[in-house]
Amino acid sequence: MERILSGIKPTGQLTLGNYIGALRHFKDFQDNGEVFIFIADLHALTLPIDPEVLRQNSRDIAAFYLASGLDPKKATIFLQSTVSAHSELNSIVQNYLYMGELSRMTQFKDKSAKMNDKEIGLGLFAYPVLMAADILLYDAKTVPVGEDQLQHIELARDLVHRFNHKYGDILVMPQGKVNKVGARIMSLSDPTKKMSKSDPKGDIFLKDDMKTIRKKIMSAVTDMEALVYYDPVNKPGVSNLLTIYAALNDITIEEAAKHFEGCTRYGDFKKEVADTVERELAPFKARYEEIIASGEYLDVLKEGAKKANAIANVTLKRVQNAVGLLTLE
Ligand code: TYM
Repeated sequence: MERILSGIKPTGQLTLGNYIGALRHFKDFQDNGEVFIFIADLHALTLPIDPEVLRQNSRDIAAFYLASGLDPKKATIFLQSTVSAHSELNSIVQNYLYMGELSRMTQFKDKSAKMNDKEIGLGLFAYPVLMAADILLYDAKTVPVGEDQLQHIELARDLVHRFNHKYGDILVMPQGKVNKVGARIMSLSDPTKKMSKSDPKGDIFLKDDMKTIRKKIMSAVTDMEALVYYDPVNKPGVSNLLTIYAALNDITIEEAAKHFEGCTRYGDFKKEVADTVERELAPFKARYEEIIASGEYLDVLKEGAKKANAIANVTLKRVQNAVGLLTLE
């Protein structure tokens, strides 16, 4: 069965962008493939974070995974830090990725540009190395992500080429998979910027209450034309709302645009978008609350760690053996 892997980093509050671009789709793979979904907690340490916030965010993501419909009987759900093979494979594969290519990564450039040199940790620079290790450990063929992660997956692919060229057929070639609609949801307050966990104004957080979410949608930045059609260059705000509407209704952008053809009041348009978001998120949020209250995610993570360790250690051994580390069994 084909392996599928993805993860979310517990750095801040999850957004509607994370939900539409990634989280919402993980469950779609669990009936036909072997799914590994993890909380990328080691990755969260690449930027300064309070330990209690990190713990809370990690619990939240575990509960959100379950609330999204991921079934722990079908999918392996785990914390990255509970599988030490991630760090061990990282320390091997880091030798096959190079400073030049890492310094060209958009995410590194964006994040480090906002910091002064003294604050930029080596982990932030080496972030894609650990991410490659995450993917390769599980022999994952498919990696469902939002558009912003594709560059990192390309780097993992380069690594596989390089490594297999040198050592033979050891690593499985992964492929990033983004959705046709909603791979890049933009900020509601500045639709030329990606919606991200660090922007409280323009972002819908999955933990916001429904009233706040509706309010944020109703006050989303649009334009003066009062016509609803898709044109991300000239109408980024309207196009972003259309994308959200299309993604959550599982229709194409064209179908969404057709639905709003002739609509000349952005208030009406936004209200329909808000209704769609509420229809999707209200039951999801209710399930999340139940899961957090019951603490059931803890057993899921424990069980997930066992299953993930068993599989990851097999790959790790294969790689250790290939590069010439002595095995004693
Ligand atoms: P992270 O935590 O930043 O984001 C989690 C997922 O959400 C997607 N995403 C978006 N999709 C659409 N619109 C947006 N505005 C938006 N913002 C975020 C991301 O593309 C991602 O799929 N490096 C990863 C975590 C990770 C990982 C991995 C993922 C670590 N190792 C291995 C896949 C495989 C990250 O920081 O995602």
